[in-house]
Amino acid sequence: MVETALRVIREVGVRPGETLLVSGASGGVGSAVLQIARDRGIRAIGTAGAANQDYLRGLGALATTYGDGWAERVRRLGRVDAALDLAGSGVIPELVELTGDPAKVVSIADLTAPRFQPSSPPRWARSVRVASGPQPRPRESGCSA
Ligand SMILES: NC(=O)c1ccc[n+]([C@@H]2O[C@H](COP(=O)([O-])OP(=O)(O)OC[C@H]3O[C@@H](n4cnc5c(N)ncnc54)[C@H](OP(=O)(O)O)[C@@H]3O)[C@@H](O)[C@H]2O)c1
Repeated sequence: MVETALRVIREVGVRPGETLLVSGASGGVGSAVLQIARDRGIRAIGTAGAANQDYLRGLGALATTYGDGWAERVRRLGRVDAALDLAGSGVIPELVELTGDPAKVVSIADLTAPRFQPSSPPRWARSVRVASGPQPRPRESGCSA
């Protein structure tokens, strides 16, 4: 769990002072992600079930529930710089919208993630990555970003 948490934080490229949104934050991987984020000065917003809201806050995150209207609730909590999908609940389009950049979204639970690209991707665009097994190659990579 901790190894996975460290890896996805590294892959999504979030820095101290930025905000990381974690979808499915109350599970094993999410709990480790929130603690590492707090330790590194990364602001975290987590989604989880209603029974786990206080648990997320106890790990230093802002919390909201998943389900209808979740993306709007997250938007009200502030800007999102990067996002992790740990639940595989079909939220990748919203995560891309909230971050504004598919390269700032990583999933460990949704194998359809690499499909998500802007409709007219700029040359440097990268797809959402799946942090498991061989990484899909970017369709076009004009720079090292
Ligand atoms: N690729 C890898 O290296 C790797 C490694 C480990 C795990 N995984 C995968 O990563 C996923 C997470 O693992 P885990 O051990 O952290 O799982 P877990 O302990 O079962 O946690 C699942 C999380 O998803 C939340 N959740 C449930 N339904 C949801 C929904 N509809 N929308 C948003 N969130 C929802 C749960 O919230 P509540 O409980 O609060 O409802 C909980 O926070 C699994 O699919 C696992 O197979 C991948």
